Amino acid sequence: MNDAVAGAWRKLKGHQTRTLAQLFADGDRLELLSHRLEWGEGDLAAGMQCDWSKTHLNADLLADFEALADAAGFAAKRAAMFAGERINNTEDRAAEHTAQRGLGKDSSVEEASALHLRMKMLVEAIHQGVLGEVNHLIHIGIGGSALGPALAVDALSRDLSLVDVHVVSNIDGVALEAAFDACDPATTMIAIASKTFTTIETMTNAESALKWLAENGVDDPAGRVVALTANPDAAVAWGVDETRVLPFPETVGGRYSLWSSIGFPVAISVGWDEFDQMLAGAAAVDAHFRETDGAANLPLRAAFADQYYTQMRGCQTRAVFAYDERLGLFPDYLQQLEMESNGKSVTANGEPVSGPTAPVTWGGVGTDAQHAVFQLLHQGTHLIPVDFIASIAPGDDLDPAHHRILLTNCFAQGAALMAGEHNDDPARAFPGDRPSATILCDDLDAATLGALIAFHEHRTFANAVLMGINPFDQFGVELGKAIAKKIEAGGSDFDASTEALLAAAGLSG
Ligand code: F6P
Repeated sequence: MNDAVAGAWRKLKGHQTRTLAQLFADGDRLELLSHRLEWGEGDLAAGMQCDWSKTHLNADLLADFEALADAAGFAAKRAAMFAGERINNTEDRAAEHTAQRGLGKDSSVEEASALHLRMKMLVEAIHQGVLGEVNHLIHIGIGGSALGPALAVDALSRDLSLVDVHVVSNIDGVALEAAFDACDPATTMIAIASKTFTTIETMTNAESALKWLAENGVDDPAGRVVALTANPDAAVAWGVDETRVLPFPETVGGRYSLWSSIGFPVAISVGWDEFDQMLAGAAAVDAHFRETDGAANLPLRAAFADQYYTQMRGCQTRAVFAYDERLGLFPDYLQQLEMESNGKSVTANGEPVSGPTAPVTWGGVGTDAQHAVFQLLHQGTHLIPVDFIASIAPGDDLDPAHHRILLTNCFAQGAALMAGEHNDDPARAFPGDRPSATILCDDLDAATLGALIAFHEHRTFANAVLMGINPFDQFGVELGKAIAKKIEAGGSDFDASTEALLAAAGLSG
């Protein structure tokens, strides 16, 4: 950590804690901390209100966090990301997910648009029946090759689903069997989604899916396969016809890959135009993030709050509750994005970090979570910053009471966490002063989903810059994989506990 960064942190840590009630009494919190992010024009203009007023940020803290961002070289690092420089230093690679949305190095944007065109042609050919009748798609991938597609298909395909998509990630055959049970093999296509095209879960599931097609009367199972990968040679070597391999660049990270051909099941499920809208919503947030300085930059401002709670208030977790059934998978998606990106113990230079890094991200959907975990949020001993996400427009056609009650509960929870309530009976008292942020979307359409995800990608990047870490590698997932491989290969000489477990399961080498 350089002296300027250390000095900025020292100043931040010297702030007196003020309660939310005091902060609201101090002045106009909404003017300072609640702003709209917008996209689209004319009748198509839409947006989301990003209300961070119920956090403990105030003008002084914002100014000192801006100083920290300057000392940490935020503007230069952001520019380097958009310029396609090799900011993923430990893997000597660029991080070019924004080029997939049209903002980045010219050559990378051109490449992305050519690859999107290829993907669009295949998607439309499938919709037109050129590859025969296709009613189902089993999308096989894991981690970043599954979480984004699963979230987007679940969020966007409730009203319109051109093809029934099943995302299978787990190696547990129970998951794949459930997809088989739901699909007619004669009209099913298989998408193998893997950046590396080597991941054992995905390759094993893909083999079993092909076998299932063959055993169920499909003459040319390999002819029903599409590959979504940054390793097209491996896909062709595996047996996928070159015309059905949809590549994406190596510089698009796995957990940032929904925008590339990994988004194929989204386009298959809801159509190319919707996929394109998702890219457009993300691009609007990219433009805001690239062009806005200081705390007016909303993902950066969110990162200021994140850093305040982890570094200065000792919060070890951050909770996200979507008051929208369609965003039920959003917390899962964020877990990988935030924890795989920023769950590190060393800086980008390999030095030990000086404070905590990513908190544990967790969450669920409202109102369900209110009846399960909110007790701890209101009265437990942990201080847990909460994000609420909701849409003004309903996703259902039932009595408006449903959506009204959903939203009133969402807003009531934020108010209750903040205000608390005195009671002479300690068991019934609410301490209050518990922070939350609310993202209130006009609607939850494809553009909004793209915007929401891009907002969190940039928030994650901004957090990484403030902590001095590289968010784009994930070496922490390798050791367990290597040991599993060793066990699979019949290795022995593990610790006594592992040996005993292997023996109990009949798996000793
Ligand atoms: O194990 C972690 C990871 O490398 C993730 O980062 C990635 O999204 C996932 O595995 C899947 O990798 P692939 O797309 O190469 O199969």
